[in-house]
Amino acid sequence: MTAVRLSGKRAIVTGAAGALGTVIAEHLAAEGARVAGLDLNAEGLDKNGALALAAPVDLTDFAAVQAAVGTVTDAWGGVDILVNGAGGGAVAFFHEMSYETWTTQVDRNLTTVFNVTRAALPSMLAQSHGRIVNIASVAAIAGGRLVRGATAYAAAKAGVVGLTKALAIEVAEQGVTVNCIAPGAQATPGRDRDTPERREALLGQIPTRLLGQPGDLAETIVFLASPAAVNITGVILPLDGGHSI
Ligand SMILES: NC(=O)c1ccc[n+]([C@@H]2O[C@H](COP(=O)([O-])OP(=O)(O)OC[C@H]3O[C@@H](n4cnc5c(N)ncnc54)[C@H](O)[C@@H]3O)[C@@H](O)[C@H]2O)c1
Repeated sequence: MTAVRLSGKRAIVTGAAGALGTVIAEHLAAEGARVAGLDLNAEGLDKNGALALAAPVDLTDFAAVQAAVGTVTDAWGGVDILVNGAGGGAVAFFHEMSYETWTTQVDRNLTTVFNVTRAALPSMLAQSHGRIVNIASVAAIAGGRLVRGATAYAAAKAGVVGLTKALAIEVAEQGVTVNCIAPGAQATPGRDRDTPERREALLGQIPTRLLGQPGDLAETIVFLASPAAVNITGVILPLDGGHSI
């Protein structure tokens, strides 16, 4: 039998109904973890066969998130791994951006990370063990070179980068690591809408000329959650084919 790296671990994945979250949940489960998925999209959660638990919830709602994470920690006695994957961008040019677009982007991409991490962290601190992996974006590091009109998204994801580093320091001595991956364009279904010209322009900005593969991204998260990554914390890891160099 092949050894698994996350045997007995209890994981929460946010955005588990989404393109990347589905694959992340599958890879964590394949390594022996029990996975709970949190997402707005109840139907998408139902379709994710890797989930042992699922809670449809708006992650921008602090009280609802406390309740959803509480359901998981009550059922399993705690949580070991948290992947903050919920989020998503919207193209809006700064000079005409509404206040609502700004706050929606910040809420979706940064406040969700606060809410879920705030709800899960006490359980990790109580057991002196935890692995938090946040998903930011190359936009947080390189601005909106892939997509013009990404200021709100880039700012919110840069907030995730700052939160990662500050929290990593705050909880480092208590057995909790906090890391962040910063993906470039991934080969998710949304990319199927690219015209050949758009795809060529995109690849022209990526030194490897490769889109990221969701399975590779998920394996990076498995590694950061595994025992081998015990001394890695506060890292912002671009998975972007060199786009942000
Ligand atoms: N796909 C890419 O190329 C790419 C690149 C860089 C970063 N990212 C980031 O990776 C993460 C996952 O992206 P994806 O491609 O799987 O997107 P996706 O749209 O397929 O999945 C995102 C999921 O988050 C959920 N979500 C959004 N807001 C929510 C809320 N308020 N409450 C609960 N759930 C909510 C959505 O319902 C959806 O299922 C996102 O944070 C995204 O910004 C993706």
